[in-house]
Amino acid sequence: MLNNIEITKTKASKLKDVDFDNLKFGSVFSDHMLECDFKDGKWHAPKVVPYQPITLDPSAKIFHYGQSVFEGMKAYKDSKDDVFLFRPLENFKRLNISSKRLAIPEIPEDYFMEGLKTLLEVDKGWIPTNEGSSLYIRPFVFASGNGFHASPADAYKFIICTAPSGAYFSGKLKVLIEETYSRSANGGVGFAKAGGNYAGQFYPTQLAIDKGYQQVIWTDDNTHEYIEEAGAMNIFVRINDTLITGPTSDRILDGITRKSIIDIAKQQGIPVEVRKITVKEVVDAAKSGALKEMFGAGTAAVISPIAGFGYKNEDYDLPELKDTYASTLKTRITDIQTNKSDDPFGWRVKL
Ligand code: PLP
Ligand code: COI
Repeated sequence: MLNNIEITKTKASKLKDVDFDNLKFGSVFSDHMLECDFKDGKWHAPKVVPYQPITLDPSAKIFHYGQSVFEGMKAYKDSKDDVFLFRPLENFKRLNISSKRLAIPEIPEDYFMEGLKTLLEVDKGWIPTNEGSSLYIRPFVFASGNGFHASPADAYKFIICTAPSGAYFSGKLKVLIEETYSRSANGGVGFAKAGGNYAGQFYPTQLAIDKGYQQVIWTDDNTHEYIEEAGAMNIFVRINDTLITGPTSDRILDGITRKSIIDIAKQQGIPVEVRKITVKEVVDAAKSGALKEMFGAGTAAVISPIAGFGYKNEDYDLPELKDTYASTLKTRITDIQTNKSDDPFGWRVKL
């Protein structure tokens, strides 16, 4: 059991330099970080230290074999200066699910939870209060142990650093339904938040950007006939009044926003289906006018409405509706996250 976490405070806070009215996503970093080492077969007590570079050997296995996993979470501050996390235990559990798949030793729950809470107490002043802003939290674990042998490392680092952040995307997205490349495969690591999953997306995403889209909608690796998820979001489709999202699998990340949106939508009486979605069904619905909305859901992006999609060299526009599920669900989830409303699901955790 963890007692007191050692804290070393920075001598040169950067807080006064932060322009909280013009925050980008994840580009300025708070004064402190949590650092924890795995060596000699066990995790050693985490410490809060000033945010600083890490020194690693060139032979550290992270550089060669990509043994690394991460999480994305947010802290919110309400008008009374109280701080809240959203379903943090889910992130802790998923980090260890990812670690297990990448042969990284799992982290004890109290190291993660107590470590995170202590870090947030120390950097409380960095949590934004502006509408739409929050403190983005990035826990990550990677192989710091050395060696060219292609096998798991004998040393790891678990770090949490945080960044006061604004919106991930601005405006509505134009997306391209992928026909060639795959993000993940059966039996692979798609369900894990492994760093390499994202690296593998950059090239196909850049090809899509070059064609005028902002994101790729990934399809199944076998047939490319089923819609699976977006780059850093799970995907929802509204056909007529039914909200549909694909089932999770070993190819898809089990998103915390996704499962929260499913519960909120059901509670609001929205018909929800969790089932496979074919590209054909989406294209047909777009042609007939039955396709009302598409949106991505994730911690960083919250709910990002999609304005249109490209598929087989054709572009399809979605209608501009006055009342959308995307905006109703976004308001509801952010009200819960930021303590602006009741929390019937018990998801909010006060620091
Ligand atoms: N899918 C991918 C590939 C992601 O990177 C993310 C972001 O974390 C999500 C989905 C959404 O997951 P969550 O809602 O837990 O942030
Ligand atoms: C998140 O939504 O927290 C993520 O981890 C996505 C990230 C790639 C920005």
